[in-house]
Amino acid sequence: PLPSQDELKRVAAHRAVEFVEPGMTLGLGTGSTAAHALDRIGDLLRAGALPGVAGVPTSLKTELHASRAGIPLLPLGGAAGPARIHLSIDGADEVDADLNLVKGRGGSLLREKMIEGAGERFVVIVDESKLVPRLGCTGAIPVEVVPFGAPHTLGLIRKVFDGLPGFSARLRTVKKDAAEEMFVTDNGNYIVEMFFEDGVRGDLRGISDSLLRITGVVEHGMFLGMATTVVVANRDGTVTLLH
Ligand code: A5P
Repeated sequence: PLPSQDELKRVAAHRAVEFVEPGMTLGLGTGSTAAHALDRIGDLLRAGALPGVAGVPTSLKTELHASRAGIPLLPLGGAAGPARIHLSIDGADEVDADLNLVKGRGGSLLREKMIEGAGERFVVIVDESKLVPRLGCTGAIPVEVVPFGAPHTLGLIRKVFDGLPGFSARLRTVKKDAAEEMFVTDNGNYIVEMFFEDGVRGDLRGISDSLLRITGVVEHGMFLGMATTVVVANRDGTVTLLH
């Protein structure tokens, strides 16, 4: 039988953990794929195979999972933080041919970008279904915004793509009981979801700059030029490494 998507996520995660060496400080990713990496690192730590390994978690969820898995945790920066983050391992929502990513459909993009951007190597773990011709092809590109004036900031984000056919944006909500509530990130912020009919075309760096120049925008989920390796688990059982 063909492997399930979760099995492929596990295969990619385990392959990436082969890059972990004793003494390394890791950026610990968030999501269902990264969760397999946390479990694997925990197992190897317990077996005594990875002495001195510690991690900086990219979300509160990962902090909890990693501490249950027995991974020593460190903050980002400060006297207690590590001098270096040698390697980060995380999933992604989409990967394009240039290894640009969409991340943050789980809402953890800000801490992910801070930690993975501070690290030396960033290994992305995906199953084949995450490979796309253009970012934004398969779903939303998230943008983290401060809650104050969020509808105003949403309007400014819409203006960046003014007149682009098939573009829409909205504030992310969650259903709670019968009501709709704003989705709130680990940092107490909101998320704007941007939708493109057939993915984002054009100058991604320019679009990124335009978004980041908006006062009220904290960060967005396009991770451009950050991945150093992408581990892809394919449905036929093979694993491909993209650099
Ligand atoms: C979390 O906010 C995201 O960036 C995740 O890393 C991304 O959504 C991948 O998640 P899955 O591994 O669950 O697909």
